[in-house]
Amino acid sequence: MTTIAVLGNGRVGGNLAAALTRAGHEVTAVDRTPGAAARAARDARIVINATPGEGSLDRLVGLREELRDKILVDVSNATVDGPDGLPGALIYPGSSLAEQLQEALPHTRVVKTLNTMLFPVMTAPAILTQAPDAFLSGEDPQAKQTVRELLVDLGWQKEWITDLGGIQTARATEAAILFVPHVIRSSGFAPFAISIAR
Ligand SMILES: NC(=O)c1ccc[n+]([C@@H]2O[C@H](COP(=O)([O-])OP(=O)(O)OC[C@H]3O[C@@H](n4cnc5c(N)ncnc54)[C@H](OP(=O)(O)O)[C@@H]3O)[C@@H](O)[C@H]2O)c1
Repeated sequence: MTTIAVLGNGRVGGNLAAALTRAGHEVTAVDRTPGAAARAARDARIVINATPGEGSLDRLVGLREELRDKILVDVSNATVDGPDGLPGALIYPGSSLAEQLQEALPHTRVVKTLNTMLFPVMTAPAILTQAPDAFLSGEDPQAKQTVRELLVDLGWQKEWITDLGGIQTARATEAAILFVPHVIRSSGFAPFAISIAR
């Protein structure tokens, strides 16, 4: 059992919080109520960022002390939305939100994962007709191992989890968000994941 704070209680945050609670973890999911994120992060071993990517850097840097020595799991995507509300462009081209977070929070172990799929897949990967990939990016092997175990708790088989390497590899998975508006326009909101065929 791990103490987990989920920042953001929307589609992604609410879904992850419910599934991690079902898996036996002690989970607190918080919305934007003032002070709630700081309280939850202070008491947690793992903090999950499921808030909008735009603004995440400022919000999380504001929690620098609460995040000290913690694992920060970043599942967000930092995009400028187009007129239809779908992701249109990257906020950190040539870099990534995850890299910016790791640089700004050197005493926090940032792990990027689960940002390459529609939210229902995060907690039910077996609903897809083909095995999806969950990618891991981060500097700390132990932190990635801890996150890998959380993914297994969420229903991910070990062979579906691919460690891409250091935090810089998150710029690849974050760029994959550029597929999303086109997939949704052509196929609707049916669950999908961006994966590597082998
Ligand atoms: N939806 C997906 O399938 C999907 C897939 C992969 C990654 N992601 C990423 O996951 C993140 C969350 O997406 P979502 O679809 O769950 O969004 P969402 O349903 O809009 O939920 C966002 C959550 O963040 C909170 N929030 C919004 N602005 C905030 C702020 N300024 N300060 C603190 N909290 C704030 C919202 O609170 P309120 O309810 O008060 O607004 C809500 O609880 C995004 O970064 C997104 O790119 C989404």
